[in-house]
Amino acid sequence: MKAIQIHQYGGPEQLIYEEAPMPDIREDDVLIRVMATSVNPIDWKVRKGNMKSTVVRTFPFIPGWDVSGIIEKVGKKISSFKVGDEVYARPDTTRNGTYAEYVAVRASEIALKPTKLDHQFAAAVPLAGLTAWQGLFDHGQLQAGQKILIHGAAGGVGTFAVQLAKWKGAYVIGTASEKNIEFLKGLGADEVINYESEHFENKLKDIDVVFDTIGGEVQMNSQKVLKPGGILVSTVGIKDDASIKAKGLQGISFMAKSLPDQLQQMAALIDTGKLKPVISKTFPLQEAAQAHRESEKGHTRGKIVLKVH
Ligand SMILES: NC(=O)c1ccc[n+]([C@@H]2O[C@H](COP(=O)([O-])OP(=O)(O)OC[C@H]3O[C@@H](n4cnc5c(N)ncnc54)[C@H](OP(=O)(O)O)[C@@H]3O)[C@@H](O)[C@H]2O)c1
Repeated sequence: MKAIQIHQYGGPEQLIYEEAPMPDIREDDVLIRVMATSVNPIDWKVRKGNMKSTVVRTFPFIPGWDVSGIIEKVGKKISSFKVGDEVYARPDTTRNGTYAEYVAVRASEIALKPTKLDHQFAAAVPLAGLTAWQGLFDHGQLQAGQKILIHGAAGGVGTFAVQLAKWKGAYVIGTASEKNIEFLKGLGADEVINYESEHFENKLKDIDVVFDTIGGEVQMNSQKVLKPGGILVSTVGIKDDASIKAKGLQGISFMAKSLPDQLQQMAALIDTGKLKPVISKTFPLQEAAQAHRESEKGHTRGKIVLKVH
């Protein structure tokens, strides 16, 4: 099969489009014919060699951990899915990934894809959608009527977080640059703060949950806007846990898990028009290097998708 493989850590030029062995499936796996995958910042962090402890690390390896596709084969133990099922998933990051024509994925990590979406839109959902869901609901304990501040609201994770928080009945405030303000209001944000011209920490107070996808100074200043007992959830690690605790706040850093029941719930929200993935650009798989260059600029609106079949 054709795939993008990485033979050594480095820049986007290390993404080599070439012939790779077809994946072997284990008895609890399915083989998916990949229709589309999407780019997440983890992909280029892995490519650079920054995430050696959590992902595949024997060369060559195939990056990419989002898939929407069609089941081609099922392992001996699998009765929950059948050949021909259209599924989506965020596969295990310690195995070869989805920048490939086929990928082997544990059946316990997949869900039927939303029926209303084509594969390219469906591939934009799993990793970013699961991260938003878990950040808001499992870790942030977000409830209807609460106020949430979402940093990086226009990004892959942020665009799901804004919509999911709104669906939950929260009051949603996002941060973004000027060009994304009206876009985010259209997604459901009640307020959008332009981080280039305004200091959110001077404008906000009594926030119940901050969902941080940016880190650094943005995260430090977020402590100032939370109400006592408020929760700071971060996708990029918590920097100063001592000061968070000293202020009577909770700081939670997490790595999103592959939970198919949450994929199913998101598929239902998508199919009933309550949630929609946002795609800024689609590239053919062969142009993965260009897609990484684009993602690494840090200003993607929604997701970048790679079309495979
Ligand atoms: N822990 C986990 O399980 C997990 C899972 C997924 C992602 N992550 C991490 O979470 C981070 C975000 O991921 P992502 O996929 O959402 O990234 P992304 O799509 O690349 O995010 C890009 C967005 O960030 C916004 N942005 C940049 N600087 C900003 C600032 N100072 N304030 C507010 N917004 C800003 C940009 O908006 P403008 O163009 O308007 O600036 C852009 O829309 C990454 O570091 C990723 O590795 C972690």
